[in-house]
Amino acid sequence: MNFNEILTKRRAVNYFDTERDVDEELLKIVIENGAKAPSSYNLQPWKLKVLRDNKQKAVLQKLAFDQPKITEAPVILIVLADRDGWKEGNNSLESVFKDFVSSGKMQPDQRDWFLGATTGLYGRDTEAAQAFANKNAGLFAMSLMYSASAQGLETHPMDGFDHDGVKKEFNIPDNFWIPMLIAVGYLKPGVKVHPKGWRQSYNDMLLK
Ligand SMILES: Cc1cc2nc3c(=O)[nH]c(=O)nc-3n(C[C@H](O)[C@H](O)[C@H](O)COP(=O)(O)O)c2cc1C
Repeated sequence: MNFNEILTKRRAVNYFDTERDVDEELLKIVIENGAKAPSSYNLQPWKLKVLRDNKQKAVLQKLAFDQPKITEAPVILIVLADRDGWKEGNNSLESVFKDFVSSGKMQPDQRDWFLGATTGLYGRDTEAAQAFANKNAGLFAMSLMYSASAQGLETHPMDGFDHDGVKKEFNIPDNFWIPMLIAVGYLKPGVKVHPKGWRQSYNDMLLK
């Protein structure tokens, strides 16, 4: 499948094959390919909680308007956006800075400049930190869904859930926001997916 086909083929699928699991190695490939998404300063302020356990998925379903796909899909990804991903000491930020130095993109003495830049952009208020986390984790989530399509998998993004309830139930630390859940699996045999819904045209999208 080329990328144009993936763009058309990816759908938010409602019915998953409950008999067909997602191989762990395949899931790993999907996630690592998805993580090739762009992010500001390459900071990658995202984490995932991967749910496969039926009991855990049943608990999540109750917190997500009882959407049946949560227990029907073999894998649920809770996408986590790190509001602290721009701060000194954050693992991703420290790895990125090391990478910048070892690849020659930055000199060690530019650390203060780098920290000043991320703090200036994302640490100025809570809204900036929230936007930073969500925009980058959103790009990751989209990349994940295309990555899954490329491997013959189906996905379904969801934000119909009790955000604070899910955080509490799954012990998600306070610095994370949950932009969406993503169900991953295979289409239930015999199910016909509806034609793709209305999309804005080029002209519709231009702000006049
Ligand atoms: C962030 C986000 C949240 C969504 N939340 C839900 C949801 O909670 N439940 C649901 O049935 N669909 C949800 N959807 C799916 C959309 O309805 C779907 O993507 C849209 O209708 C376009 O259809 P397509 O993805 O098949 O092209 C969500 C989609 C996105 C991107």
